[in-house]
Amino acid sequence: MSSRDSLYATPLDKVQEFTFDDKVAAVFPDMIKRSVPGYSTVIAMTGVLAGQYVQPSSNCYDLGCSLGESSFAMCSHLQQQDCSIIAIDNSVQMLASCERILSAADCTARVELVCKDILDVPIQNASVVVMNYTLQFIPAEQRDQLIQTIYNGLNPGGILLLSEKIRFEDADMDARMIEIHHEFKKANGYSDLEISQKRTALENVLIPETLAEHQQRLASAGFIETDTWFQCFNFASLIAYKHV
Ligand SMILES: C[S@@+](CC[C@H](N)C(=O)[O-])C[C@H]1O[C@@H](n2cnc3c(N)ncnc32)[C@H](O)[C@@H]1O
Repeated sequence: MSSRDSLYATPLDKVQEFTFDDKVAAVFPDMIKRSVPGYSTVIAMTGVLAGQYVQPSSNCYDLGCSLGESSFAMCSHLQQQDCSIIAIDNSVQMLASCERILSAADCTARVELVCKDILDVPIQNASVVVMNYTLQFIPAEQRDQLIQTIYNGLNPGGILLLSEKIRFEDADMDARMIEIHHEFKKANGYSDLEISQKRTALENVLIPETLAEHQQRLASAGFIETDTWFQCFNFASLIAYKHV
């Protein structure tokens, strides 16, 4: 059970840039469920999709694994496939919590936890690569290369599952979706102060892109087709297919 997220509940003299530190790790499961519309569905379906596309004796990657929710969801769908899940995060604190959860979990697949920058990790013999809500934290100028590395490391017939907060090209639509997202957070118990301070903390850290920008990048990397398999407000999940 994680603690309730109240990191931004009291007025801060100066709102620091958001980082995945020990304070965030301690409340992360509560924070992400109350902040990301559809999070539980996306995680559960990540497992289902991984089960559909996993190839025997291949690797499944979870890039920016945080506390391992996507990895654990995949675990229960990879029976008898002799696969490894490679879960990577560059936050020592997040990965330490992930390790504690993993050691208590009933996970039948091999899970390797790697504390590294996902920009520095080779992707090899991959049938499924999951990157849920992480590309948005990667510097914009390094995103093309990361997606290319993923594409190159996927086996034919492999998939990338990519979930992101998105921006809308149309400014009015974008503003409406941000407002609706804030209403969603209020409905989940966050105050106006919490929403506003968290927004400031994420301002230069989480940089969303439009669906068109994601689709363009995936196509340029070589993916033959991309579908939006889930969307709720300004959060979307894509599946990108590598040719067979
Ligand atoms: C919003 S969380 C991802 C949530 C997680 N995928 C899930 O579905 O529960 C983003 C994670 O990406 C990690 N991260 C951000 N930049 C990274 C990088 N360059 N290399 C590795 N991990 C990174 C953060 O430490 C954080 O744990």
